[in-house]
Amino acid sequence: MNIFMMQDLLIIGLLIFCIVSCNSWVGFCQQNTFNVLQYGAKGDGISDDTPAFEKVWEDLCGAQNKGTPMLVVPARYTFFVRQITFSGPCKSQNLHIQIKGNILAPKRDSWGTCSKRWLHFINVKQMTVDGSGVINGQGDAWWGNLTGTVGCTGVPPTAMLFERCDGLQVRGLTFTNGPGSHLYVVHSEDVTISHIVVNTPEDSHNTDGIDLSNSVRVNVYDSEIQSGDDCIAIKGGSQFVNVTRVTCGPKTHGISVGSLGGGGEYEFAEHVNVYNCTFNGAISAARVKTWPVIL
Ligand SMILES: *[C@@H]1O[C@H](CO)[C@@H](O)[C@H](O)[C@H]1NC(C)=O
Ligand SMILES: *[C@@H]1O[C@H](CO)[C@@H](O)[C@H](O)[C@H]1NC(C)=O
Ligand SMILES: *[C@@H]1O[C@H](CO)[C@@H](O)[C@H](O)[C@H]1NC(C)=O
Repeated sequence: MNIFMMQDLLIIGLLIFCIVSCNSWVGFCQQNTFNVLQYGAKGDGISDDTPAFEKVWEDLCGAQNKGTPMLVVPARYTFFVRQITFSGPCKSQNLHIQIKGNILAPKRDSWGTCSKRWLHFINVKQMTVDGSGVINGQGDAWWGNLTGTVGCTGVPPTAMLFERCDGLQVRGLTFTNGPGSHLYVVHSEDVTISHIVVNTPEDSHNTDGIDLSNSVRVNVYDSEIQSGDDCIAIKGGSQFVNVTRVTCGPKTHGISVGSLGGGGEYEFAEHVNVYNCTFNGAISAARVKTWPVIL
């Protein structure tokens, strides 16, 4: 046997060792894929899968692999998940969340008072969230009725909130029946949102497709948004935002900068480009909304 054959055998041996040890979750090539079903999620649309999502996040966020640890939400299941926070910082430099199944929100009466985010990601860098799954906010009880939120600060009722998530990419998902905002990005840099669909009835009061605030270098493209209020709202502190080939409508309020200056605040949004977008039956296409200064 020459030295090259021995090298080959060694590599094959290592590969086998790797496959075996990955399956038993130990060894130097750690597990890289984290499936919610392995954490006890039922995915029947009724059982509370929140604890499974909490546990899978803990392992994913703690994974220290060289590759990209991936959380899998498999197709053909519907996971009922209550309000949940996915906090970083995580150990890996990249994360991948693949949502092929559906995720269902709790009804309004079980949301906490003044706690207005359902799926909240915070302090997670370089994360990709993709897949063909449906994020269903079951938000109809919020539409046109913000009773009990007066005096609460922060975001409107939001299905998926990304806060301080630099390098975020969101791709392919479908959002439906959001309570207020479907996808809200705040205090994040270098964000790409593409190929998403927002499909919520046109008479759903105050529902926005995408909201951005205090975010820098954001690219939104090739998406279809139907919601009751703004298609995309670009709020204070946003800079270098490009929106390209987005279809908004019907009866959307279009792409808005603002509202800015609520409560007499000094706010700005700058370098916003909107290219090649389509507005079907919109009450406006692109506009700037500001509050009057009260002296
Ligand atoms: C508005 O929402 C509150 C809180 O969920 C609820 O108690 C009330 O019945 C709702 N009002 C209407 C008119 O639907
Ligand atoms: C937005 O478009 C401009 C002009 O095409 C380009 O220079 C800039 O890099 C783009 N910004 C982002 C965040 O993609
Ligand atoms: C907008 O569409 C025109 C015509 O198809 C194309 O020439 C242009 O490059 C597009 N602009 C952007 C920013 O995609």
